[in-house]
Formats: sequence, structure tokens, C-alpha cells
Amino acid sequence: MTVAVGNDKRLQDELKRSGNIPTHIAIIMDGNGRWAKKRGLPRIAGHNEGVESVRDTVEACGQLGVKYLTLYAFSTENWKRPKDEVSMLMRLLMRALRDETDKLYQNNVRVRVIGDIQSLPQEVQSELADAIEKTKLNTGLNLFLALSYSGRWDVTTAIRKIADDVMRGTLSPESIDEPIVSAYLSTKDVPDPDLLIRTGGEVRISNFLLWQLAYSEIYISSLFWPEFRRTEIYAAIADYQHRERRFGMVSEQVQSSGHKPSTVTQFLKNVSRL
Ligand code: IPE
Ligand code: IPE
Ligand code: MG
Repeated sequence: MTVAVGNDKRLQDELKRSGNIPTHIAIIMDGNGRWAKKRGLPRIAGHNEGVESVRDTVEACGQLGVKYLTLYAFSTENWKRPKDEVSMLMRLLMRALRDETDKLYQNNVRVRVIGDIQSLPQEVQSELADAIEKTKLNTGLNLFLALSYSGRWDVTTAIRKIADDVMRGTLSPESIDEPIVSAYLSTKDVPDPDLLIRTGGEVRISNFLLWQLAYSEIYISSLFWPEFRRTEIYAAIADYQHRERRFGMVSEQVQSSGHKPSTVTQFLKNVSRL
């Protein structure tokens, strides 16, 4: 669904007024293959169209003032897909980085990456390095691409580094607490996601940010990723604003958080009217 520019600005302003904009949104971008299959197209056509959703989501999140957006683009397990699909995905990634970096730079987006980057083809690594270098002084949205990433890889790598530092005597086992573990993960210095979105209707984490998602609010969309555009992000954020995040406490302890359900409900109605 496309939204006229004026309407879009109005929706964004309404969303900012109706509650908190999440600091960190993480997205499992799923359903590209099914989107293509439904249209009798090859799977890669779905991945291609998915790039449009990435572009729209990044732009909308930047405009809303989201500070961190982490996109699950390729998992450790995705290496097990047919060779052809993997190589087409790598080529698509390279092309998208090449085509989008200037625009990302102009939009004040800082590109970053998490995952086992060394396992990616050399050309992809060098496009990534260019995008990261070019945008490193940007101060707007931090766009994290999770590539060859899995939560278990992240935790295992952290444990190895912790063991190394203990062996070298720079870290004592007694001092290891949760903030220290967080600091050894690939997301160090990044607040945990407030909101996890998964498209494509499956209700699972698929080895995404296992440690970091401990208290994230989860929003599942039945839409395939290529269909998921900015109004869907707005609807997900509006839904998030409706939640009461208790972090183990009781409702009375957290009620000062100031969410205003009536405005949000109105907002959701506005979205569905478009
Ligand atoms: C997500 O879409 C993209 C990647 C995992 C790279 P899929 O390719 O998993 O699409 P479905 O789930 O098969 O529809
Ligand atoms: C999760 O999607 C990984 C990414 C979106 C990159 P998958 O399609 O790989 O997940 P499963 O296999 O359905 O759990
Ligand atoms: Mg999938």
C-alpha cells in the first residue's frame, strides 16, 4: 500500500504523539519465497521485491526517529539452501549495497553488520566494508544487517572470547555478569530490541538474537516480506504502544509508562482506512 507524502507525514506525527517510538526494532524478514510462488515466479523474484520493502522500512524508521533497526537478512542455516539460491542472494545483496549506499549516506543512516562476515564471499565483504566506511560518521538510524548470523553463533563466539580473556588473565570468572556477557556479543553497546517483527506468519525465532530478545515485544504479521511496507511498520509500532511491558513486575508498578490506548486505537483505525 502506498501512502501519499502528506498523509505519511501525518501518520508519522500521530504515531509519535500516541506513544513511544521503539528505540530498537528487529525484523525477521520472512516470506519472500512464498510471495514469489503465489505469483508463479522464481524465489529470487521474491528476494528482489523484498529489497523494496527494506528500502521503505529503513526510510520510514529513519523518519520516525528509530535509533536501531536490525534486519535478519541471511542466517547461518540459510547456507544450507540450494547453491543457486545462495549465490543469487549474495549477488542481490552486493547489488543492493552498491545501489543504496549513497542514498543511505544522504539519509544519515549508519550501516553496520553482525554475523560471521568472514564466511561471506570476498566481493560482498568489500561492498559491506565500503558501506560501513562511507556511513560511519552518520548520526541517524543505525542499520544493522544480520548476515550469516545466528543467535547461537553469537553466544558461542562470545563464550570463546570470554574464555580467551580469562585465560590471559584480563577477566576474572567472578566478574562475569549479564552486562559483561552482553558486551562480548556482536551487539555490544546496542540496547536490546524493544520490538521484534516477523513477517510471513511463522511464530518462531529461527535462531535470531537469542540473548538480546529476552524481553522484546513480539509482533507477527501474516504478510509476506515483499508486501510489508511502511504502513505495516506503523501498525506494528501502534500495536507495540498498546503493550504493557512489565519486565517481571506487576501492572501497578509500571503504570506510569503513560501509554494512551485511545489515541493508538484511533491511529490503527486511520491506518486501516488508507
Ligand atoms: C526470507 O524469505 C529471506 C531469507 C531467508 C533469505 P524466505 O526465502 O525464507 O521465504 P519463504 O519463507 O520460503 O517464503
Ligand atoms: C529466517 O527465515 C531467516 C531470515 C529471515 C534471514 P527462514 O526462512 O530461514 O526461517 P525458517 O527456516 O522458516 O525457520
Ligand atoms: Mg522463510
